[in-house]
Amino acid sequence: MLETVETLIAKLVDKVEYPRATELFSKLSGGKRLRARLILAIAPEASTAPLLGAIVELIHSASLLHDDVIDEAQLRRGVPSVNATEGSKTAIMLGDILYSKAFSELTSFDPRIARSVAESVVRLSVGEMMDVAMAETFNTDRSLYLNMLYLKTATLIEACTYSAAILAGKDENAHALYGKNLGLAFQIVDDILDITGDEATLGKPSLNDFVDGKVTLPYIDLYEVLGDEEKQRLIQSHAKALDEEEKGWIKSKMDEHCIIEKSYAYARALCDEAIGVIGEDAALRAIIETVIQRSH
Ligand code: FPP
Ligand code: MG
Repeated sequence: MLETVETLIAKLVDKVEYPRATELFSKLSGGKRLRARLILAIAPEASTAPLLGAIVELIHSASLLHDDVIDEAQLRRGVPSVNATEGSKTAIMLGDILYSKAFSELTSFDPRIARSVAESVVRLSVGEMMDVAMAETFNTDRSLYLNMLYLKTATLIEACTYSAAILAGKDENAHALYGKNLGLAFQIVDDILDITGDEATLGKPSLNDFVDGKVTLPYIDLYEVLGDEEKQRLIQSHAKALDEEEKGWIKSKMDEHCIIEKSYAYARALCDEAIGVIGEDAALRAIIETVIQRSH
């Protein structure tokens, strides 16, 4: 089934009828295809499920092309990013082609599905803007951070699971909640791995988020429990290159206050709530377990 999605993705890009776009797209690494996998798992019998999977994967690819320009990222999924090899203009325009093509195909779906996916991309874009703005200061507001995560990462996944449930005639609200919580848990595990992972598995130095200005959940939780002087030290370290001593201090404070365990427990609780609403669905249980248990 996932092969059908891959074939459809290639077909949609071909239908743009611009060989340069096809060539550049063919060099991108497809990633885990989590969004398409979820749609297929929820609506395996629906004939249009693979097309919906292909559409959302194109939107996701477009968002990553733009995100790499915004973040000035040199690597994506272990290979040089399009902005690194072809320049930012090409990366932006390739992204534009992919998401416009995706939206054009989306018009053939039930209006509830088309609206849900389209509105999720509005939220995705707002989330990305918030993420960039929030990296300018040391944000200590937990709910603001979680709302940004919801917008930037969870909203498209939520639209996928909601839409797939409509295709399959299943409970769309339960599946939307599953998708939202899975998306949030995915991003929180990402935040954790940025701190606990080593350079070899991450493909970037550890604590990279904080160096980039991103005050992720573990840092917000750490800030809350530190004494006044320690709070100032943490703020001083924000958004700058960190030497080994400073990295060691941050990690030792996280150990002392069991911060990683706390963030992990939060992600776990989100998964448990998601499992609670979808009931006995073994495929969806397995997908959420791979998200929470992944190590890179
Ligand atoms: C990755 O974040 C970025 C996203 C999940 C969303 C990006 C969204 C946009 C650029 C909005 C525009 C949307 C379209 C469809 C063109 P990250 O930088 O935290 O993660 P990373 O480590 O994977 O780069
Ligand atoms: Mg990025």
